[in-house]
Amino acid sequence: MIQILVLYYSRSGSVAEMARHIAHGIESVTDCEASIRTVPTVSATSESIEPDIPESGPPFATHEDLIKCDGLALGSPTRFGNMAAPMKYFIDSTSDIWVSGGLAGKPASVFSSTASLHGGQETTLLSMMLPLMHHGMLMVGLPYTESGLFANEGGGTPYGASHVAGDKNERPVSENEKELCLAAGRRLAKITKKLSASQ
Ligand SMILES: Cc1cc2nc3c(=O)[nH]c(=O)nc-3n(C[C@H](O)[C@H](O)[C@H](O)COP(=O)(O)O)c2cc1C
Repeated sequence: MIQILVLYYSRSGSVAEMARHIAHGIESVTDCEASIRTVPTVSATSESIEPDIPESGPPFATHEDLIKCDGLALGSPTRFGNMAAPMKYFIDSTSDIWVSGGLAGKPASVFSSTASLHGGQETTLLSMMLPLMHHGMLMVGLPYTESGLFANEGGGTPYGASHVAGDKNERPVSENEKELCLAAGRRLAKITKKLSASQ
């Protein structure tokens, strides 16, 4: 089976919901399996520290999860136009994998959620690509053959799936945003499968 890791951080649930749609898209491709993982919040050492196992939701990701995956979908909410600190913190801990080239040559896609339509989806998605490119990963975007990219409301970008949550996180993932999450998962899975077969 082709293993694809769906790794995300989410505080209010939007990116978590997108992760589930992307995982469904991945698993709609024969022989492809998605594992969903998250990362803990970060806090100063003088504050409380998260338990090793989250109280609810998927397990926290380990370096082993990254090393053994064939492809990666990485998701984070926008924080001031950038990825959220807990995801950045986790990525910053991966220099051992970078040294060994453990992710080099593997495909990756990114996804994000913002409060507002022009609140920085693209910049966040690009910020998430940078460390993945340092790891030698191959970026998989969304092509305009997906007609949903032409919708002028809500999320959906050629850089990756996205969602507009509203300033009170009141907007659920729309049908169009969901279709683009499914398409992103399918595309990542198909490309990962082809690359794995050629090795
Ligand atoms: C500290 C902070 C910074 C944020 N910065 C932005 C921003 O730059 N643009 C934006 O549209 N939304 C911003 N948001 C809103 C979140 O990106 C948005 O609520 C997102 O949908 C949350 O995803 P989640 O439900 O997966 O946690 C910010 C939220 C927080 C807490």
